[in-house]
Amino acid sequence: MPSSSRMNGKVSVVTGAGSGIGRAAALLLAEEGARLILIDRDTQFVEGVRAEIEAAGGEALAFTVDISVPGQYRDALEQAVSRYGRIDTLFANAGILGVVGPIESIEDDEFDATLLNNVKGTFTSVKYAIPYLKANEKGSIVLTSSLSGTRVFSQKGFSAYSTSKASIAAFGQMAAFELGPSNIRVNIVAPGTIETNISGSGDIEPEAEDMDTKPVEYPDGTVPLPEGSGKPEQVAKLVAFLSSDDSEHISGAVVHIDGAESLFVG
Ligand SMILES: NC(=O)c1ccc[n+]([C@@H]2O[C@H](COP(=O)([O-])OP(=O)(O)OC[C@H]3O[C@@H](n4cnc5c(N)ncnc54)[C@H](O)[C@@H]3O)[C@@H](O)[C@H]2O)c1
Repeated sequence: MPSSSRMNGKVSVVTGAGSGIGRAAALLLAEEGARLILIDRDTQFVEGVRAEIEAAGGEALAFTVDISVPGQYRDALEQAVSRYGRIDTLFANAGILGVVGPIESIEDDEFDATLLNNVKGTFTSVKYAIPYLKANEKGSIVLTSSLSGTRVFSQKGFSAYSTSKASIAAFGQMAAFELGPSNIRVNIVAPGTIETNISGSGDIEPEAEDMDTKPVEYPDGTVPLPEGSGKPEQVAKLVAFLSSDDSEHISGAVVHIDGAESLFVG
């Protein structure tokens, strides 16, 4: 039984759709009636999600695309629109943890790679979707930032990742300002610790373990809500709300979804 049919008739792009938060959002948007354009650089993952959506009676197209390579993404959108005719919502979510380590040990190209993937990739994802949203004279874009770089500045070795996520929050608010007159809303979700595969997308330098940081006493458990870490499905519900007309007067918001974790860890 679908939780809602509020996405009926809409076409939704989700990047990073093969795993974690992107997968959960794609499944929920499809359940609520959207046709999905699934983007991920991992073919097996993205095809798996397409198969899950189809098995549940939904419709989806899957594309193996690295969002930091603009031509790949642009071509995928062109192909998808030739099938589905339109794009109504974008969840620009793909991201990696990237390099983790002391600033003086991070290689210049490792820093570049983290920002290329997360920041440039988000820019590209938004840029090439805009003409399709403008054609409908309406649209909703949701970006994935993080507590890292918006509220939490105490994670050892996270300078590259946090910089990328702060940039996404800034870019999203600028996009909300710029695209508002075109009736395109842009919001930013900033999750706390969510159980996904993201730790496997990091390059943890050995020196990260020995970093000399001031010890901080945390209370028992860092997530006040009793369930502990968040689940991708919980972030997906927020993304579906922000994508739908239920949030029609919300734009430029950075919504933290962290079980109040950031009140303890700052
Ligand atoms: N899991 C957390 O605790 C957490 C917290 C805050 C923010 N986030 C953010 O959530 C987003 C989703 O991460 P997740 O936790 O679901 O991780 P995940 O690793 O489970 O999923 C990320 C997906 O994005 C894809 N991807 C990464 N770079 C890509 C690229 N350049 N092109 C195409 N696909 C790409 C990966 O293949 C993967 O399928 C990321 O932007 C991440 O920074 C995660």
